[in-house]
Amino acid sequence: MTTNEFPAGAGDWSSLIADLAADRAGELFPTSPAAVPDRETAREFRLDGGELQTIIDRLPADFARTSVPAEASGAIPGHSSAGADPFQNGFRPLVAPLAAAPGGWDAQAIHRDFPILSEKVDGKNLVWLDNGATTQKPRQVIDRLVYFYEHENSNIHRSAHTLAARASDAFEKARGTVAGFIGAPSAENIVFVRGATEGVNLVASACRSRQKPGDEIIVSHLEQHANIVPWQLACQETGAVLKVIPVTDRGELRLDEYGRLLGPRTKMVAVAQVSNVLGAIVPVREIVQAAKRYGALTLIDGAQSAAHLPVNMAELDCDFFVFSGHKVYGPTGIGVLYGRREALEIMPPYQSGGNMIADVTFGRTLYQPPPARFEAGTADIAGAVGLGAALEYLSALGMAAVSLHEAELAAYAGEALRRVNGLRLVGEPPERTGVFSFVIDGVADEAVSGRLRAAGVAVRVGHHCAQPIHRRFSLERSVRASLGVYNTREEIDFLVSLLRNLR
Ligand SMILES: Cc1ncc(COP(=O)(O)O)c(C=O)c1O
Repeated sequence: MTTNEFPAGAGDWSSLIADLAADRAGELFPTSPAAVPDRETAREFRLDGGELQTIIDRLPADFARTSVPAEASGAIPGHSSAGADPFQNGFRPLVAPLAAAPGGWDAQAIHRDFPILSEKVDGKNLVWLDNGATTQKPRQVIDRLVYFYEHENSNIHRSAHTLAARASDAFEKARGTVAGFIGAPSAENIVFVRGATEGVNLVASACRSRQKPGDEIIVSHLEQHANIVPWQLACQETGAVLKVIPVTDRGELRLDEYGRLLGPRTKMVAVAQVSNVLGAIVPVREIVQAAKRYGALTLIDGAQSAAHLPVNMAELDCDFFVFSGHKVYGPTGIGVLYGRREALEIMPPYQSGGNMIADVTFGRTLYQPPPARFEAGTADIAGAVGLGAALEYLSALGMAAVSLHEAELAAYAGEALRRVNGLRLVGEPPERTGVFSFVIDGVADEAVSGRLRAAGVAVRVGHHCAQPIHRRFSLERSVRASLGVYNTREEIDFLVSLLRNLR
């Protein structure tokens, strides 16, 4: 049994943590070494290997300790009992990732994992609040990339030599890690792409052959351009029509309007799980369920959710899910398209060439089944391996702990920003992540960003590739501060102190 196969259980991570906090560890995990938390526990509570390891790490010192069994863990660097042999397991044990330290979230230790955060920028300490654009990379990912190029580099799947086997193993292991991270049933549901943008383009392009004039594609007003333009192009080519779910003044999707838009002509519903401008968390599960009643396919853009919320394909029940490696503490140039098996199987190839074929003559070509069918040419092999390391890092922190940390920080940041004189937040969604876009009355965006840049604080200024949602709030651009695992209340205080002095 692998983590991918855990059936949905009755428990959940938060109740397990609550029980631990209430000192019920003894009942949950008897001290007998034979009864330490194991795959049964993981299955019951729907934990992945990293989360299980985090719990084990949090157990009081007098409890028997063990590592997550390798087959359940997805081999967490530094924790895997079988990690000592790089060539059997696809990678060497790296610096042990920082699981949440016993007693809580160790912000300083996490900070130390990211070398660039010690960088002086224009003589100032760097404060990275541009996580919505891209995240910084932990040492574990950087080391993994170096290790790949020093010990494993080869093209994959095609050669008989040892390095080809090492590189192929590492690449396919990363695919399994991705599947485990998002709760996909199998590694075969995972297509490596360049990023969320390419993932949407792949689906939009491949689905064209199934669309006809008058069919309808639904997106929301919150979308980033990557989840608008590919569908517009598809509509232009097929005669399908693009429909848009409106949002309220707070930035919530109008689900009543969505219900009215759905109908027998709806062929695709494509929405972001988290808005890259408002930080709004969208009720994607409900959206998917409603779309299914009309037989429409569903695509969830997870670019702003995968690093911040636990995501699980069995729960979301969508046909497609996309996200980018560089926004989940992994490398640029690599990303993921998850597809339900039946959905992937009906799609024709997106690009063609080597790797995606089963047999070629000049008269015809037979294609590989998914995922290889959608991976023409040489993949970003090192990027995929680095992405695997990034997801292992996040799993070691535990996505429940990550989302809890960021939710607390977002609540703190929201309150602090609202107190800045003249500052207007773009939208006030009730369910949100740590993405805050704002304008300050009477102060140009450039003046805001210039002041922050001079103090070493990196934020984003512009339309953030989401013009429609800016215009919904009568804006062309805004300043955006977006949070990640390494951010702290002190950094928020610093940001706010700089903003306060602008007017
Ligand atoms: C919500 C959303 N979707 C898609 C994308 C596109 O991601 P990428 O440029 O990594 O393909 C982004 C990037 O900012 C985003 O925020």
